[in-house]
Amino acid sequence: MTGEVSIRQAGQADLAVLAAVLGNQGFFEDRLTRQAKGLGVLFTAWCDARPVGDVYLWLEDAEEPPIRGHLPGVPLLTHLEVAPEARNRGIGAALVRAAEDYLAGQGHALGALAVRTDNTRAARLYRRLGYEDWGHGTVVCYSEHTLPDGRTVSEPEHCHVLVKGFPDDRPVPLVSRTCGGS
Ligand SMILES: CC(C)(COP(=O)(O)OP(=O)(O)OC[C@H]1O[C@@H](n2cnc3c(N)ncnc32)[C@H](O)[C@@H]1OP(=O)(O)O)[C@@H](O)C(=O)NCCC(=O)NCCS
Repeated sequence: MTGEVSIRQAGQADLAVLAAVLGNQGFFEDRLTRQAKGLGVLFTAWCDARPVGDVYLWLEDAEEPPIRGHLPGVPLLTHLEVAPEARNRGIGAALVRAAEDYLAGQGHALGALAVRTDNTRAARLYRRLGYEDWGHGTVVCYSEHTLPDGRTVSEPEHCHVLVKGFPDDRPVPLVSRTCGGS
C-alpha cells in the first residue's frame, strides 16, 4: 500500500470487496440497506482499490434508551474501524472528519458516539478530535459481531458516551493520508 488514502461514501457495488477485506458481511449488508433507505451513511477509506476502514453514521433514533432520552435526534458515529495494517496513519481521524463534515453540511449542531469503557485507544482519538463526555454516566450499548457461520450477534458492553458540537473550528489533527509503505 503506497498510494493516497481516499474517503468516500460506500455504495451497494462495494459490498463484496468490503466483506471480503474487512469481514462482517452481515454488518455491511445491513448498513448499505439502511443507507439506501436514507437511514444512515456508510463512509469508507480506501488505499488504491482496497478498503482499509469505515465508519457508519447512524441517523435513526439511538437503540440505547438512555441515549435516545438524553440525545433525541442526535446522529451517532458508529462502528469506526481501521484495518490493523493501516492504523496510526490518520485514517481513523479522517473517517471521523468525513462523517462530521457531512453532518455539519446537513446543518446538525451535535454528533455523538459510544465507546467501550476499556477502549482507551479509541477514546484518546475521539478526545483529541474534540469529543467530550456527555455527563450522564456510562450506558449499556450493543456491538454486532459476525460469527464464523455468518450469523450476526449483538453483544452488550459498557460504554462512555461522547458528544461534539458543530461547527468545529479546531485545526485538523495530524493525518498523513497516505497508505504507507507496508
Ligand atoms: C480506533 C481506531 C479506529 C483508530 O484508527 P487509526 O487509523 O489508527 O487512527 P489514527 O491513525 O487517526 O489515530 C491513531 C494514532 O495514530 C497517530 N497518528 C495519526 N497519523 C499519524 C502519522 N502520520 N504518523 C504517526 N502517528 C500518527 C495519532 O496521533 C493517534 O495516536 P494515539 O495512539 O496517541 O491516539 C483503530 O485502532 C481500530 O480500528 N480499532 C479497533 C476498532 C475500534 O476500537 N473502533 C472504535 C469503536 S468505538
